[in-house]
Amino acid sequence: MAQDFLPINGTDHIEFYVGNAKQSALFYQYAFGFQLVAYAGPETGVRDRASYVLRQNKITLVLTTSLQPDSEIADHVKKHGDGVKVLALWVDDATKSFQETTLRGAEPAFPPKVLKDEFGEVTVSAIKTYGETIHAFVERKKYNGPFLPGYKPRTSGVNIEPIGLKYVDHCVGNVELGKMNTWVDFYEKVMGFSLLVTFDDKDISTEYSALMSKVVSNGNGYIKFPINEPAQGKKKSQIEEYLDFYRGAGVQHIAIATDDIIHTVGELRKRGVEFLYVPETYYEDVMERVGSINESLEELKKLNILIDRDEEGYLLQIFTKPIQDRPTVFFEIIERNGAKSFGKGNFKALFESIEREQALRGNL
Ligand code: FE2
Repeated sequence: MAQDFLPINGTDHIEFYVGNAKQSALFYQYAFGFQLVAYAGPETGVRDRASYVLRQNKITLVLTTSLQPDSEIADHVKKHGDGVKVLALWVDDATKSFQETTLRGAEPAFPPKVLKDEFGEVTVSAIKTYGETIHAFVERKKYNGPFLPGYKPRTSGVNIEPIGLKYVDHCVGNVELGKMNTWVDFYEKVMGFSLLVTFDDKDISTEYSALMSKVVSNGNGYIKFPINEPAQGKKKSQIEEYLDFYRGAGVQHIAIATDDIIHTVGELRKRGVEFLYVPETYYEDVMERVGSINESLEELKKLNILIDRDEEGYLLQIFTKPIQDRPTVFFEIIERNGAKSFGKGNFKALFESIEREQALRGNL
């Protein structure tokens, strides 16, 4: 096998550009159990922005807002609303990652730069992907600070209990009609990923709307990026609704893994996080479809958690409603018990649920 020209250790962090980072940071602390670990802003010598860094186990989220009306961040928020700007990948060599990918056709976002502070140094570079989203490459082997040079350690006055969110399982992109294969090619050729699965409109369609999806993954499988595009249906696809409101391609959902979905989702619900609703009828024949599982069906039903099985095991999953007012980005909570797939058996029930929400918004 050819040598992996882009070895990746995992997801480094996910940065959102938001309208009000201070309030968003509290939302992720209170509702999702993240801990504030670092901050950059006027108090730390950064004049144009404020960024809050939140962590739970291996997941690091950064919430950044502009302090000025005319900036790249403010423009991004004006156009897209709150959304994901950076899907950052943890690498051993950010310079080589940039060279190898740009050599293969990646558009640079910024060339390698070395950032230093009292905790050491980090090299960061970045390339562009779909929409205005970028992939940063972060090399942090000479660093032991809380996040990146320039960020100061910061804790919150409130003591937040983690709720079992462990790591980023996959991040999904929505791209324009006809662009799915372009971006699959990009991940294959430019980043050395390979195609894992394809879903076409026969797998993923309801009476009304449809989508197509392909999943690409890096060599060690730590990074999985499903790419969706709208497909022709009787009414507006959920992907089109996203593209209309996000004003282009972007991150649709971030799936976060837990070892105890009943505990995690119970906590999220208690804290006010809203999930897509799947009717009780879903549970009538689900056991026939998935066979025996370790969890109590009653508890899963009470929390509205979905179940699917593949050749290797089963998985439990649930999807939040959009986490901002535009019907754009949302989260998935997933517990894998051997299954490496994405819940294909739940697509129909889920999409019907999404369509009910779309109809309520007047967008179906
Ligand atoms: Fe997903």
